[in-house]
Amino acid sequence: MSTKAIIDRQFYADVVGGLSSPNKTIPSKYLYDEAGSALFERICELDEYYITRSELSLLETCAPHIADDMADKVQIIEFGSGSDLKIRTLLRAFTGNVTYVPIDICAEAVQQSADALSKDFPHVHIIPVTNDFTQPFTLPPSSDDAEQLGFFPGSTIGNLNEKEGQRFLHQAAENLDDDASFLLGMDLQKDDTHRLEKAYDDSEGVTAQFSLNLLTRINRELAADFDVSRFRHRARWNEKRGAVEIYLVSLQAQKVRVGDHVFDFAEGEGIHTETSRKYTLEQIEELTTSAGWIVKKRWIDDKTLFSVNYLERVT
Ligand code: AVI
Repeated sequence: MSTKAIIDRQFYADVVGGLSSPNKTIPSKYLYDEAGSALFERICELDEYYITRSELSLLETCAPHIADDMADKVQIIEFGSGSDLKIRTLLRAFTGNVTYVPIDICAEAVQQSADALSKDFPHVHIIPVTNDFTQPFTLPPSSDDAEQLGFFPGSTIGNLNEKEGQRFLHQAAENLDDDASFLLGMDLQKDDTHRLEKAYDDSEGVTAQFSLNLLTRINRELAADFDVSRFRHRARWNEKRGAVEIYLVSLQAQKVRVGDHVFDFAEGEGIHTETSRKYTLEQIEELTTSAGWIVKKRWIDDKTLFSVNYLERVT
């Protein structure tokens, strides 16, 4: 059986399971098909999506320090590599012997960025891996003397729930060598609801297209009949949870078929598609230490929007 068939069956089961629950939900990883990954790249270019720019400028500052701190021979493993903007900033600082292992759920996105990077960084050996990094998997072997750096930028950890985030970091600690380091981008909690909501519901409507593309994907891949014009994107800051919560909201009462199943939607009923958690410094400490890492150094921008955390293993 092909990998595609396995993934599709899982996709079908996750969508049917999620839409059958009293609070309808679909896992956010399914937002990233080829079109979704391209739309996410456009989101990263938006002024309102402050995350990318804040993190990029922090990476400009911290990359030379990290390159200095590490051995000449390094293996950089990026989890959920999607866009290549950030790794480019990092790779510019590493001039020695570098292997780069991008891991992403979207085969097209990971291959495209590997091709583009190998042209611009001929000294870097690139080993693209298609995988769901939230599930256990084996890393390609590293050469004995290469020092490993895990890289998880973009505050993607905030799309996982608390348990999943902890499991992911713990698994990374287990998968990487004992002397590995880890560079973790985490968005910070801020008292600015307008900024937070605009970042996830931009004026050009790119984020809305990104969300709604999930329904188009389900129609195409799972024999469904969502009328995309009967849903709208909604992003709200939930103060209590410290997270932006994203829904696709049904504009009217309607029935939708997905394969052999029919789902009823009430007017105003939402499908939860994403949570984007934001962190206090205390929460960052708690999460990383509970997963076997300690923060060796941290960089924060002058507006205290975002943090880049350089971690080492607890020994
Ligand atoms: C990938 N991830 C970190 C993004 C975020 O900010 O939570 C996903 C996203 N969804 C809508 N805009 C961005």
